[in-house]
Amino acid sequence: MRRAIYPGSFDPVTNGHLDIIARGCKLFDEIIIAILINPEKRPFFTIEERREMLSEVTGQIDSGSCRLRVDSFAGLLVQYAVAQQAQAIVRGIRAISDYEFELQMALMNRRLEPSIETVFMMPAEAYSYVSSRLVKEVFLLGGALDGLVPVPVEARMKEKVSGH
Ligand code: PNS
Repeated sequence: MRRAIYPGSFDPVTNGHLDIIARGCKLFDEIIIAILINPEKRPFFTIEERREMLSEVTGQIDSGSCRLRVDSFAGLLVQYAVAQQAQAIVRGIRAISDYEFELQMALMNRRLEPSIETVFMMPAEAYSYVSSRLVKEVFLLGGALDGLVPVPVEARMKEKVSGH
């Protein structure tokens, strides 16, 4: 049983995240998509909203025999991974600029917990510039998000700013 954690803020989940999850499904029997509870950040969506959206959109992934679960966690990622009996952490690397910080995190996580491996995966080129931060910025400035986030996510973003 190969279980991986795919951690992140997912504020909001993008098509780039979904692309990585679909690729991860080829390698693992189960992927736990784990949303970081970070009290220091002021998020666009609450943890509960992010959970709901992730559950909805990951249900549409062709995951084969791979089981997908959505969860949230606080504290150290490696402690959470051990508690979930996972062997690996999956992270997406878009450009070389991501690599430096991801390498630091992977090596720190290895030092903290040598039994957990970090697996870096590359999304499709079409998503190589997509980030949750830019998606929020473009959205708040009135730009179109077609193809960048799943349709239900864009709808939830619109609801959020219209106050419904
Ligand atoms: O989507 P993000 O914001 O790039 O995800 C970052 C995340 C959640 C992977 C990272 O902040 C994290 O692992 N936080 C948990 C706290 C922790 O374990 N810190 C030490 C990491 S070396």
